[in-house]
Amino acid sequence: MKKITFSVVGSGRLGTCLARALVRTAFQLESLYSLHRKSAEESRQIIGAGRVRSSLTEAVAQGEIILLTVKDDYLAEVISRLSSLSLDWASKYVFHTSGLYSSTILKELQEKGATTGALHPLQSFPRKDLPPEIFHQIFFVFDGSEKALSLAKQIAESLGGQLITLPPHQRPLYHTACSLASNYLVGLIYASSSLLQEAGLNQRESVALLRPLICQTINNIQEMGIEESLTGPLQRGDLKTMAQQLAALKDFPSVKRSFISLSYLLLEIAEKKRVLSPQKIAHIKHLLEEK
Ligand SMILES: NC(=O)c1ccc[n+]([C@@H]2O[C@H](COP(=O)([O-])OP(=O)(O)OC[C@H]3O[C@@H](n4cnc5c(N)ncnc54)[C@H](OP(=O)(O)O)[C@@H]3O)[C@@H](O)[C@H]2O)c1
Repeated sequence: MKKITFSVVGSGRLGTCLARALVRTAFQLESLYSLHRKSAEESRQIIGAGRVRSSLTEAVAQGEIILLTVKDDYLAEVISRLSSLSLDWASKYVFHTSGLYSSTILKELQEKGATTGALHPLQSFPRKDLPPEIFHQIFFVFDGSEKALSLAKQIAESLGGQLITLPPHQRPLYHTACSLASNYLVGLIYASSSLLQEAGLNQRESVALLRPLICQTINNIQEMGIEESLTGPLQRGDLKTMAQQLAALKDFPSVKRSFISLSYLLLEIAEKKRVLSPQKIAHIKHLLEEK
């Protein structure tokens, strides 16, 4: 069967992982283009396919699909450069992979005839050389034209994922939610690990120690729901324990600030669960405020 051709603009972490996984399915990589040629060459090595191009014009001349995987901040500029090229856009699909921006950012290209969509793989890609399995069972969050939808679905499913659609105006909320669940989770574990490092463990040991706790908490959330998974001093209303935890953070001001902010979220959960009396909630709020 004839493969569907594509080119990648922005051979960073996601662009490289995506191309590497796609070339193992019904897609064929034509061109790779990046800000720095060296970066595209490194990606070419990892993917094992495609040709590194020296200009944007050359890169997008080939390929039925153009994947824009540049940093969010450069997306509008790249789109504007692309729409100034004289090209038969009507024969091309253009997808960007930003979580924040909807397909409306591709308007200029759509007006030139391109079939456009925003296709965000809901996963974390910290390196360029992750195996294609990284896409298995993940969601690809889409908005765009009907025609783009059917190709986006094919891309998602051929990688072992599934497509869901989201109204374009909800993208900023959606993307913030994704960041909270991934980037801010890293921040939380960094904070937790830094306390354990102060207690004498190295970072590796601290992560090994925390891992079963983190994984079981995720399992609990999946099996019992978010509210039922909350355990610990706040939801028990153990005020003395909370006071000692806050005191233990006296030399860790940034961790303490985050701990206090998150305590208010935990209070929201405890209030929902009706596990604490109004007096207990008032005492906890007072404790958080005075610290
Ligand atoms: N990484 C993730 O976990 C993840 C997950 C889902 C979605 N995304 C989305 O994927 C996109 C890329 O993210 P990333 O994490 O892969 O970023 P990244 O690793 O920083 O890669 C961005 C790439 O864009 C290239 N670039 C920057 N400006 C360019 C320009 N003007 N022309 C051509 N190439 C340019 C950079 O080039 P050089 O390498 O040559 O400097 C780099 O290779 C973003 O929209 C992001 O929201 C990322």
